[in-house]
Amino acid sequence: MLSQKLIELMNDQINKELYSSYLYVAISNYYKEQNLDGFSSWFLFQAKEELEHAEKFMKYLQEEEAKVILKTVEVKEFNFKDLKEPLTFQLAHEKYVTSLIETIYEEAVNTKNYKTQLFLNWFITEQAEEEDTAKELIRKYELLVENKTGNGLYQLDESLKSRK
Ligand code: FEO
Repeated sequence: MLSQKLIELMNDQINKELYSSYLYVAISNYYKEQNLDGFSSWFLFQAKEELEHAEKFMKYLQEEEAKVILKTVEVKEFNFKDLKEPLTFQLAHEKYVTSLIETIYEEAVNTKNYKTQLFLNWFITEQAEEEDTAKELIRKYELLVENKTGNGLYQLDESLKSRK
């Protein structure tokens, strides 16, 4: 049985995951406007993953016979100043999402809800991977683009097209 606070936190998390998807669609569009199709498709892939995260929380709440409440997704206009900013934005955002997952986990521990702890383990692992992936992309950008080795931006854009 989920505590009321766990239900509220998980419903908030659904909203955050949907917002994450929205954010990554915005980043995908930004890169598309810069004619960087690889970056654009990479972030669109990420946006779809975020929808799956929201779906996992929805399914879990429903399995636990708790009500799913969809809240308004925050609408923002993103004005990225350069090609690197969305990458650092992503890392900061994923660190924030990790902190949210940890808060839910803490409530599951405090209420001795072992099943929910098991469910959340997947998200703990996923967040570690997402932070690592975001860091790696920044490192590659710095290596290939900022130190201007040949046509690094082109190479990186091409390599990002292969994400499946
Ligand atoms: Fe669903 Fe990128 O965290």
